[in-house]
Formats: sequence, C-alpha cells, structure tokens
Amino acid sequence: MGREFLDIFTDWSSDYDDFVEGNDPEYKAVFEGYSNILKEIVRRSGTSVLEFGIGTGNLTKQLLSSGKWVFPIEPSKEMRKLAKKKLPSEVIIYDGDLQNYPNPTKKLDTIVSSYVFHHLTDTEKGMALKKYANQLEMGGKVIFADTMFESQEALNQKIIQAKEQQFYALADDLEREYYTLVPTLLTLFDLAGFNVSIEQMNEYVWIIEGEKRA
Ligand SMILES: C[S@@+](CC[C@H](N)C(=O)[O-])C[C@H]1O[C@@H](n2cnc3c(N)ncnc32)[C@H](O)[C@@H]1O
Repeated sequence: MGREFLDIFTDWSSDYDDFVEGNDPEYKAVFEGYSNILKEIVRRSGTSVLEFGIGTGNLTKQLLSSGKWVFPIEPSKEMRKLAKKKLPSEVIIYDGDLQNYPNPTKKLDTIVSSYVFHHLTDTEKGMALKKYANQLEMGGKVIFADTMFESQEALNQKIIQAKEQQFYALADDLEREYYTLVPTLLTLFDLAGFNVSIEQMNEYVWIIEGEKRA
C-alpha cells in the first residue's frame, strides 16, 4: 500500500503546476500561499535533506537554490519527467515512496515533503515515522506540510462545504485519501521519538515539525 493514488498523479501531472498557482477554483484554498509554505520548509531545513514525493520539483528547486544537498524521491514516472526539466541536469530523482526508498548517499539531517504524507494510512504513517527516526541523529528533523484537520467534525464540514460549492473533485479527494487529524499526527510523531510542533499555513495545510529526541 502507499502507492494506491499514483494513477491520479499520472493524469494530473501535466497541469499540476496550474493548480499550485491557484488557477483551479476547487483547489485554490488548498494551495493558498503555496510558495510561502515551501519557503518555510526550506527555512526550517538543515543542509542534508531527503524529500519525498517531489512532484514537479518545486520544493526541490528551492532547497537546491538555498545551497542544500537534496536526495529527491518520487514514485510517479510522469512527475519525475516533469521535475527533471526543472532541476539541474546532474540531479538524480529516485523512484521510491514514503515507505520504500533507496538508501540516501549521504547522512541526513532533515526529511521533508509537501502535500504527500496523506497518501499513507495512519498505521502506515506511524511505522514510517519510526523508520525516519532511525535514519536521523538526535536533533534531526522531519518537516511535513500537508492537508490535515483539527477534528473529524472539521473534515466533515469541509466535505459538506465542497459539495455545496459543487467542488466535487475536491470532495471526492477529501473522502478518498488519508487526511490525518492534528491530534493523531502529534501522537504519532511523539510515539516515534520526536518533539513536535505544528503551525497552520492556510485553511487546509499545516506544517508539522518533529525533532528527534535523545
Ligand atoms: C500533491 S503532489 C505534491 C507534489 C510536491 N511535493 C508539491 O508540493 O508540489 C503529491 C506527490 O506525491 C506523490 N506520491 C503519491 N503517493 C506517494 C507515496 N506513497 N510516497 C511518496 N510520494 C507519493 C505523487 O506522485 C505526487 O508527485
């Protein structure tokens, strides 16, 4: 499991950047402040970064421009092709996912992703976080930006609102994928051995940051 939503990205890849630029009314609020969200991940990151689900490479590009070493991972062939065009030719984009990925070729101090972690169920998220903790030294960070909700009620309300606005693709997405509740994610980070903090970036997206404890 974990790769069950890949076909969606095969279809979405060619116009994905239009969405992040806010040109699709259904996803405008989800991608509100996208560029700032990526900047904030870069600001919080160390110098040696593994990135999951790079998509078209927008965050990767910013990390590299800030002088960081990046180990980029993306399971969709179509997305890898698009990202390749945006990134310096020497950058290798690895086929892998949040659970199964090649061993980084350098020691990591940070693991990042944007709009990706909800592809795992909560059980899978917990297991993956323990794996990330094993890969980091004390003080190493996991920084994930993703759609999440304060409560089940808040998620249900967003689904109702999307249907009322006739945003049926967004409503389907919110019902289909594994969007986490904030308290659950805080607990999963804690159980995996991270001190954790969280900040809301727009109506949908939060940045969760875990720092590995001793
Ligand atoms: C919404 S896009 C986000 C892309 C990029 N991170 C961004 O912020 O624009 C989600 C990306 O996650 C990838 N993806 C889907 N399932 C995944 C998994 N299990 N592990 C890692 N990446 C996955 C998709 O192929 C897609 O590129």
